[in-house]
Amino acid sequence: METARIEEVISDFLTLRRAGANLTTLCPFHHEKTPSFSVSPVRNTFKCFGCGKGGNAAKFLMEHEGYSFPEALRWLAKKYNIEILETKPTPEQLAAHQEEESLFILNDFALKFFQNQLPGAGLDYLKNRGFTDATIQEFGLGFAPDSWDALTKAATQAGFKLEQLQKLGLTTSSGKDFFRNRVIFPIHNLSGKVIAFAGRSIPNLPNSTNLTNSPKYLNSPESPIYHKSQTLYGIHHARKSIRQQDECILVEGYTDLIALHQAGIENVVASAGTALTTEQLLLIRRFTPNLHILYDGDLAGIAAAMRGLDLALELDLNVKVTPLPHPDDPDSFLRRLGIAAFTEYLATSAKDFITFKASILLTDVANDPVKKATAVHSIVDSIARVADPIKRSFFIKECASFTGLSEAILTAETNKAVLALPLPSATFLGVRDKPGVNSPLEPVPTGREVGGVENHLVYLLLEHGADILDPKENITVAEHILAHTYEVLEHFEDPRCQRICRESIELVLAKKTVNAGHFIAHEDLDLSSFVSSLMHKEDAPVAPNWEQASSSTKTDGGPSCTEDITKTILQLRLKALSQLCEQNLMRIRNTPPDDEQALARLLKVHEKLITARRELAESLGLVRF
Ligand code: UTP
Ligand code: MN
Repeated sequence: METARIEEVISDFLTLRRAGANLTTLCPFHHEKTPSFSVSPVRNTFKCFGCGKGGNAAKFLMEHEGYSFPEALRWLAKKYNIEILETKPTPEQLAAHQEEESLFILNDFALKFFQNQLPGAGLDYLKNRGFTDATIQEFGLGFAPDSWDALTKAATQAGFKLEQLQKLGLTTSSGKDFFRNRVIFPIHNLSGKVIAFAGRSIPNLPNSTNLTNSPKYLNSPESPIYHKSQTLYGIHHARKSIRQQDECILVEGYTDLIALHQAGIENVVASAGTALTTEQLLLIRRFTPNLHILYDGDLAGIAAAMRGLDLALELDLNVKVTPLPHPDDPDSFLRRLGIAAFTEYLATSAKDFITFKASILLTDVANDPVKKATAVHSIVDSIARVADPIKRSFFIKECASFTGLSEAILTAETNKAVLALPLPSATFLGVRDKPGVNSPLEPVPTGREVGGVENHLVYLLLEHGADILDPKENITVAEHILAHTYEVLEHFEDPRCQRICRESIELVLAKKTVNAGHFIAHEDLDLSSFVSSLMHKEDAPVAPNWEQASSSTKTDGGPSCTEDITKTILQLRLKALSQLCEQNLMRIRNTPPDDEQALARLLKVHEKLITARRELAESLGLVRF
């Protein structure tokens, strides 16, 4: 771990930029638009001030590559030419291995089984489709024989348990092989382990185990190691090229991807059988912000492209779409054109999302105002999902030129559409879970209950109020705390805390010391008992769940006390900003939609507030999933 330089390790995956003594980039672990991911060569650690993830080089590999700790160490050892002596696991150790590890081992067994079965019908089919031996080898393609239980038998004979086979979906609940008489495509995770399989039926092949109308493709069901919504077919093979090309091409089918790869276009992933999800797009965004959607030319393909497009815009990806002529898919189109013409087509026919939407939606509607309006609304709805207001205004310009509508009208419509979208607050905090469904507004997680923060502030005020915070400027802790919180006092939830602060301000102005004794001797007995129990409680070791809790709670006036004070003040200001955000949103909702001037003004306020709130939250390191 001493040899492993954090900046070298992370540079293998992310592009780091200098920022003073540290290096920085967009955090790969959560959705953000300004970098809060920081790498400290001095401390040899990384830390994201947005989502809170951090640690050493091994931790980074575990988080980013999904490695176990031993795998991370092996990776580092290889990179730095350090020899690790490993003992072969005994059968007992093997049995004790984690469930996941054993499932991977079983998948490897199945992979080899399918590969061994390939010669014959399976290989003929793939060769017929133009796939070379090298490609077949590289993608681990195989064949599941026309048998009810060939794999299940082979695996159980090799010592694997039926239960494990069923967990992976390789064997059905009735003990039959799940894949029968099908060409097999293994599905890999980011680090290249086989997590699932897909099987394609071969047309016109005599077959005894599949119904004639069984689906063309079958996919492994979800398992402890296979989560469809987080998986992109081909990501392992494409990752390097995606980073090099700084673009990711997204196709629909397994064979599309393999055909493109074979022709030398390697920066391709496939959404493969599921509607595109936010997780999949975030996975892409780890490698590049540039997405190139290349879907089939049929209606289903276009509809899928449209959906993927909106999702990608929301995640601040730059999206291009290349429509293919019906009824081609990338594989058939490439075969028809050849690689040179295909590449040329991609370069010249790629459209930005507005042009794509307009070309689809505005075709043949010129004389139909209703259809045209529907089309414009749909385009405007997409523009509204673009988070960056500058990009948004460029798209509005473009849309205006396409539709002949004025920019003013389109801007007003876009603003309305922005408001109709679920609250942006969740987005800017990087907290968004379900694809397409904007998660409900989550409160900014704070280290303590808000009431607890107010209490803690009062505790700090009364315990340390008379201490000198900064000897150079001769400022007391009380002066500092009160100067930085008086603007947000009205947002306090606990009236007692509010009152103590207000009275403390008067004490300071009267040049009297602020301390607990004053309030314990207060004529208001409620206030007196509140303060005495507060001081008592805070003196006892509590366990607030923020960093350095133990050192900062029971403070002794040292530097940790200063940090504690700063954090507490920031938390209260954050809370107040959140309230202002809510109030402004209420105002926006209550503004009549045709009052464009008022709306524009309120939206500007909204943007300022959420930016301020995000910056505050980021500087506190409080934003987490
Ligand atoms: P397509 O029907 O376009 O097939 O489905 P394809 O990829 O072009 O495959 P070939 O060329 O006919 O062999 C696109 C993708 O949708 C999923 C698969 O991931 C497929 O690659 N799919 C399709 C299924 O999951 N099940 C099906 O029955 C069909
Ligand atoms: Mn195809």
